[in-house]
Parts: sequence; C-alpha cells; structure tokens
Amino acid sequence: MCGIIGYIGNKNAIPILINGLKRLEYRGYDSAGISFIGSNGIGVRRCAGKIKDLESSIRGQRLRGIIGVGHTRWATHGRPSERNAHPHRAGGIVVVHNGIIENYFELREALKKNGHVFTSETDTEVICHLILSYTKKGHGLEEATKKALKHLQGAYAIGIISESEPDRLVAVKNDSPLVIGMGRGEYFIASDIPAFLRYTKDVIILDNGEMATITRNGVEISDVFRDKPVKKKPVRITWSPSMAEKGGYRHFMLKEIYEQPRAIADTIRGRLSLEKAEVNLNEFSLKETLLKKLNKIFLVACGTSWHAALVGKYMIEDMARVPCEVDIASEFRYRKPIIPRGSLVIVITQSGETADTLAAQREAKRLGAKVLSICNVIGSTSPREADGVFFTHSGPEIGVASTKAFTTQLTALYLFSIALAKVRGALTAGAVRELFTDLLQLPEKVEEALRVNDTVLKIAKKFRHVRDFLYLGRGINYPIALEGALKLKEISYIHAEGYPAGEMKHGPIALIDNNMPVLALAPEDSVLEKIISNMEEVKTRGGKVIAVASEGNSKVLSRASHVVLMPRTNYYLTPIIFTIPLHLLAYHMAVLRKCNVDQPRNLAKSVTVE
Ligand code: M6R
Repeated sequence: MCGIIGYIGNKNAIPILINGLKRLEYRGYDSAGISFIGSNGIGVRRCAGKIKDLESSIRGQRLRGIIGVGHTRWATHGRPSERNAHPHRAGGIVVVHNGIIENYFELREALKKNGHVFTSETDTEVICHLILSYTKKGHGLEEATKKALKHLQGAYAIGIISESEPDRLVAVKNDSPLVIGMGRGEYFIASDIPAFLRYTKDVIILDNGEMATITRNGVEISDVFRDKPVKKKPVRITWSPSMAEKGGYRHFMLKEIYEQPRAIADTIRGRLSLEKAEVNLNEFSLKETLLKKLNKIFLVACGTSWHAALVGKYMIEDMARVPCEVDIASEFRYRKPIIPRGSLVIVITQSGETADTLAAQREAKRLGAKVLSICNVIGSTSPREADGVFFTHSGPEIGVASTKAFTTQLTALYLFSIALAKVRGALTAGAVRELFTDLLQLPEKVEEALRVNDTVLKIAKKFRHVRDFLYLGRGINYPIALEGALKLKEISYIHAEGYPAGEMKHGPIALIDNNMPVLALAPEDSVLEKIISNMEEVKTRGGKVIAVASEGNSKVLSRASHVVLMPRTNYYLTPIIFTIPLHLLAYHMAVLRKCNVDQPRNLAKSVTVE
C-alpha cells in the first residue's frame, strides 16, 4: 500500500519525483524517499513523515540527477521510520516497491548466510540483495532482475536503478499497479497516472509478470516468466492535470464533492438510447443471454463501495426482480459462499486494487461465477480480471474519503438495474424512458443539492463538539445512513452509527439523550410516515433530530430541530441526492475539528493488503 515513481530523461529528476510523490501520497503517507544517480554516484534521501517533510529535508541541497526513483509508504513490514523508508539500497542497486513479498523471511535468512547485511526491517530489502547477488555473478541489471524475480512470492510493483548502469530504469509488475508515462525522450513509471499527468498523457499499463526496461531511447517490455518480448500500445488519457489537482478547493474531498454533477454526467454519457429505451453497454461484454438466464446476483465490496452494493440490492431486486445477496468482501472470501449456477458476482471498487475485493473476485471466479466489475480506475486489477466491466467515470479520487466515486457507483448500479430489467422484460420501454428522464436530470439536481452547503456548515458548527452521532434511514436509504456514519467516523473521529430506523427501538433508543444528535433521512417515499414516527420517538426522549427531507415536506418541520431540504427525484435516485449533505456534514465537522480531511489517521486510499 504505497506509491512509487521513477523518471529517466534529460531534466533534473528530483523535482519531478517529489511532485509525482505528492500526487501519490493518497496511497500511503508515513514515510517517503527518493534516490537518483548524479555526478557523485547514487544519492538516497529518506525520512519518516510526509512528502512535505522530505521536501524540507532536502531543501537547499542542490540535488541533481537525470534518473531516479521515489516512494511514499504505508507500512506493512517494519514500523514507519527513516531506516524502513524506501528507496532501499544494496551496493549499487536501489529499489522502490509497492506490495508484499510473502517469502521475504526465508529469502533474507538465506541471503544473510551468504554474507548480505540488512539495514531495515522491510520485506523490500531482499529484492535489492537478490538483484545484487546476480549482478555480482556478472549479469546486467535486466538479467539480474529477471533472475531475482523467480525467487519472489507475493505482490509487487518495483522500480530499480543501478549505479553501474545509470542509463536504465527497470520496472516490474505483479499484482500491484504500475503504469508507464511516455514522454518525448523522457519516461516515467508510477503506481497511478496523476503522478506524471502534468508531463504526459500517453500511458502504457503493465500487466502481471511484465517488465519494462526503459532508456532515453524508448521502452522495451517483456514477459518475465515466459521470457519473451511483449508489444504494447500507449493509451491516451483524457484527464487533464488540473483534474488531479485541488483546483482551488481547500481539500481534495471538497473538490471531489463538488465534481459530482460532472462525474455523474460522465458516467451516464453515451450509455442511454432514449429511442430504443436501452442502456448501451458496449464495454460490458456480458452476453444478453447470460443476463436473461441469471438466477442470482451477489454484490461484493468493502467500505463505502459496500454501501453502494447495499443500495444496488434494492435497485436490482425492485427493477429486475433478480434475488441479490450482499457481502463484505473480507467475509465473502472466507465464508464458503454457495454460488448456484447462473450466478453473477458484481464487485464494486473505486480503486480496483482493494485486496479483499480482489480475493473475493478470484474466489467467485474459482467457484464458477461470472464477474462484473464496477470500477473507477481503468487499467486496475479488478476490471482486468473480470468477465465484464462497467467503468464509473468520476476521474481520479484523491481524498481518502470516497465521495464522487460512491455516487457514480450508484449511478452505474441504476443503469445496470435498468439494463437487466429491460433484457428480462421486467420493465416496459415506457418505464425505462421515464427512468432515463429522471437520470438525465440528475446532474442538475445534484448541483441544486450542493446549495445546502451553508445550511450544513451551520449544523456542523452547532454539533462539532459531540462525541457520538446516530444516523437513521429506511429502505433504499438505510445504506445511506451507514455511509453518513462511516464518513463522519473516518474523517472527524466522532463515533457514529448508522441504523435502519425501525431497529432503533430494539436497542439504540437507550442511547438517546440531549448529547447525541440523530440524523434522520426522510425522503418522500412509501416509508416516510414510519421515519417520522422514529423522529418523534427521538424527540420525546430529549434527543436532537436533524432531518434531511424532500423539498416541500412540511411534516418533518415540527419533529426536527434542523432541517435540510433536498430536491425531489425518483425513489431509486434519492440515495444519490441524500448522500450529498451527509458527505458535506462529515467534511465540515472534520475541518472544524482541525482533522486532516484528505489523509485521516491510520487510513490509506486503497487498502491493498488484507
Ligand atoms: O477502492 P475501493 O472502492 O475498493 O475501496 C473500498 C474502501 O476501502 C473505501 O470505500 C473506504 O471505505 C473509503 N475510505 C470510505 O470513504
């Protein structure tokens, strides 16, 4: 769970590496480092802390090198410290690594017996020593790396430079993401595209087992384990560099919240045929016959994506009448799920790299299910291993708290449910067109929903000092109560729970008092009267109710101390609209409590370890 970057070209590598690391900091931020080859040989600079600490530690040192690698770390083996920070070095070999070498202990013991001296507690250091041991036997960097890789078990994306071959950057990928930026006479390697987006938009996505040998004259790719060259064409990325920057907002999270109208519009774009009343699923690659015969759908994900899965169950069952089961990926992979014939497993993942989700996806495939991946990151592992893909086009999400990725996942699930229902004859063309019309209005409605920001800020100011928060929802908005609570916990460190409102009297009602605000989701739907009763129950016990309700709903006014009014939309789209004030509330609470919004403590953006 780290970010790596590498550069080879004619510019000074140091600012390029630092800049790239800042774009990758969302992947981990407990220590960082760079290495470069300059006129005095190899230089390594590392420190515990964030990229800004690394930057200040090298300020004024006038470092130069036209080749180099960098790393931002989220500790897996060895506590965060300077000596465990990457890059790691053995002799003239320097390595940055994202992933885990599972057999590092055995390898280290064997290398020690052969006289290798280790200076860190990391699994990564064995890679440098292994490569060094082969260069000592007379192999060049490329060949030595290939030989070293044969010993490694686990996941890795690695960047390597060597003092004795200063014109060569070697990069390898196995189960951890790695992309190559193709500039003019300059090349980049990185864990993610924003790291080099300001320099080039032409990208090669490496597949498992592929190694790139990069010089200033070009990139050669080979399949390491089959020992043969691989031809790959660069793809042109349409993201602009500013899309990966804060764009004037104080935090990435806020920027990403405000990007939702655009992100949702992009996810819908090109996918509706109003005339035929059909969803265009070109990339989807699952046959209509398969969709017609489906008996069961499993939705599997982690965290916020799991909340999307819960909403997806309501959408799919209601529109397409196919039974759904929802699983947390880390449970699914170990619970011996029964997957009947004719099942589809939908995995939902923003990053496409979440370890538990990938393990569940692989388990589902092993058990014979077809897998559809709803994912935001093109080129990531989940969509590449799936039978079908549905990309959400929310653009890079940098804030650790997932916002626009969530609402675009819900948009994708809405489209999928309609497609499935139409194929199976569960919705008429007329009904499909009505659902399309509502969807086409959604970006504008989200824009409107964002106007509650000032009201939400006032509420946040009022409740910023509370210790606990309860979120209540019903039906399709019950998962939104879970999502509101998760977001508050994650970035403001306030204890919060999401509950199906009907369950309140079976336990949590005992918690209600003047000190615990209760946020109730009250859209205009078939269970509105029920949630109003739940609000009454809270009020009569001295609790404070914040109601998020549909515009024109006067019934909630007398039951709540604060009301946030949301534009009206159809039942299936209310979770998207009602999420907006909840994400804003968590954001403002975190800012008011002086928390690190984009990089909350102990968390990382993509959880690529179990
Ligand atoms: O990349 P993924 O969607 O697979 O990530 C899943 C969770 O780790 C993620 O949603 C996490 O819960 C977020 N930090 C929530 O804001």
